[in-house]
Amino acid sequence: MSLHQLIYLSKASRHLDSVDFLKLLGVARENNLNLRVTGSLFYNGGWFLQVLEGDLHIIQDLYRKIENDDRHMQAKVLYLEPANSRTFSRWTMNMINLDEEHDSKYHILRDLLDAAVKGNMIDGLSAPVKLLKVFSDDNLFGIR
Ligand SMILES: Cc1cc2nc3c(=O)[nH]c(=O)nc-3n(C[C@H](O)[C@H](O)[C@H](O)COP(=O)(O)O)c2cc1C
Repeated sequence: MSLHQLIYLSKASRHLDSVDFLKLLGVARENNLNLRVTGSLFYNGGWFLQVLEGDLHIIQDLYRKIENDDRHMQAKVLYLEPANSRTFSRWTMNMINLDEEHDSKYHILRDLLDAAVKGNMIDGLSAPVKLLKVFSDDNLFGIR
């Protein structure tokens, strides 16, 4: 097993609500459990940023399936690197819906998604690198 992390950005083809996500995550979590894939999905009402963690070939195949999903378009891989450990080890697929979640602790994630969409750096780091750092550095989001 060669642990890698893949992060992609995509544009939602329509607005998704919590019922849509329940359906999406039900399927994703069952598949990912079988594939030993973990990760997190972020949505801000217009864009998705998703982290997939697992064996290189498995996450590449999974990404090829996901990118053809008509719930989103313009999928673009921003990051694909080996990793020593999983950042979202507890999650077959964590989900943070920034469209519905307005707590101030999510500000950093809103800024991160904006930076990813615009291709901007954030605190001197690319958005995917900063995202992984936010979740591995502290327990702001209770993920550890
Ligand atoms: C933004 C987004 C993220 C998704 N993430 C996953 C995922 O992590 N794992 C997964 O199996 N399917 C994911 N899907 C769903 C797949 O595109 C596809 O519908 C699903 O894997 C089909 O599963 P099935 O082959 O078991 O029917 C995602 C879809 C979207 C739009």
